Amino acid sequence: MALKEGLRLRKRVFWRLTVPALGLLVLLLYWFPAFRQLEVLIPMGVCPSATMALLRDNFTGVLRPWDRPDVLTCTSWKTPIIWDGTFDPDIAQQEARRQNLTIGLTVFAVGRYLEKYLARFLESAEQHFMVGQRVVYYVFTEQPAAVPRVAMGPGRQLRVEFVARERRWQDVSMGRMRTLQEALDGRLGREAQFVLCMDVDQHFTGAYGPEVLAESVAQLHAWHYHWPRWLLPFERDARSAASLAPGEGDFYYHAAVFGGSVAALRRLTAHCARGLLLDRARGLEARWHDESHLNKFFWLHKPAKVLSPEFCWSLDVGRRAEIHHPRLLWAPKEYAQVRT
Ligand SMILES: *[C@@H]1O[C@H](CO)[C@@H](O)[C@H](O)[C@H]1NC(C)=O
Ligand SMILES: *[C@@H]1O[C@H](CO)[C@@H](O)[C@H](O)[C@H]1NC(C)=O
Repeated sequence: MALKEGLRLRKRVFWRLTVPALGLLVLLLYWFPAFRQLEVLIPMGVCPSATMALLRDNFTGVLRPWDRPDVLTCTSWKTPIIWDGTFDPDIAQQEARRQNLTIGLTVFAVGRYLEKYLARFLESAEQHFMVGQRVVYYVFTEQPAAVPRVAMGPGRQLRVEFVARERRWQDVSMGRMRTLQEALDGRLGREAQFVLCMDVDQHFTGAYGPEVLAESVAQLHAWHYHWPRWLLPFERDARSAASLAPGEGDFYYHAAVFGGSVAALRRLTAHCARGLLLDRARGLEARWHDESHLNKFFWLHKPAKVLSPEFCWSLDVGRRAEIHHPRLLWAPKEYAQVRT
């Protein structure tokens, strides 16, 4: 009797200590950057060699995923995750030129974001984004006259499209999907074959070439690529069109970079715009706005290519041995200044 009682007591004490300890660890990981460095210890998984042999890509030719044993180089649905060192940028350049592509790059520069970020975004894109290819930039803004004049290389042009100003930044971010859908149905869809959609509060720091192109392209989020799936910040409210049930979701993708063929992006933007509208009709707003809907879309329709975090890196994450060569950096967030 006493023995059993003692065992039960010990069990209870064990649980009383472990549960708060685990909870505390999660909170520490969340709030303190120093503790967050511990997340590098969480393994990303490895690509099975049987899958490695099967990886194909329309732009990079043969990929060399085995050259990066330190990171996950493929998804469970057998598409490549593009890391520095696994592809040959020259082959991608030649292939894009052989296909005579026009590549679109869309960016929203609304309110203070325009004066603060647009010039640097465009200037750095001229240095690093799809150099040697035909490129058409689409800048969506409510102040077309304020768009800076940036000298464009041959075969590259800038189009400025007017969008009405929304009051809250959440609405700007959500109206984006509808605006993109309209542009893809119009001139952008006629003149480009592939389009990348990016946030403006970032700048290019390294070659960003056709190795990123595919039917549909998703970006691993720099803050979350080591996290276990159950911790990822998906929308979990079942009433939202963006909701993912426990156990659903592959990776957490960053809405600061997504892309694909015009047809695939039409489907993506239509899906997200519809989800945003449904939520609004129910008086809901998904946890991370259009990013939540993007994550739902990529859960239902797996991306054909996934970009490693070096294609959209944040220096705030700290140094990471596996990030060899960041190509695009987010600006440090200054929400108080720009979101007014
Ligand atoms: C390549 O594309 C451009 C623009 O879409 C077009 O004007 C040109 O004729 C094309 N060249 C070839 C060889 O198809
Ligand atoms: C490669 O190109 C083919 C034909 O255009 C297309 O059907 C396929 O989806 C492309 N693959 C990827 C990964 O984009």
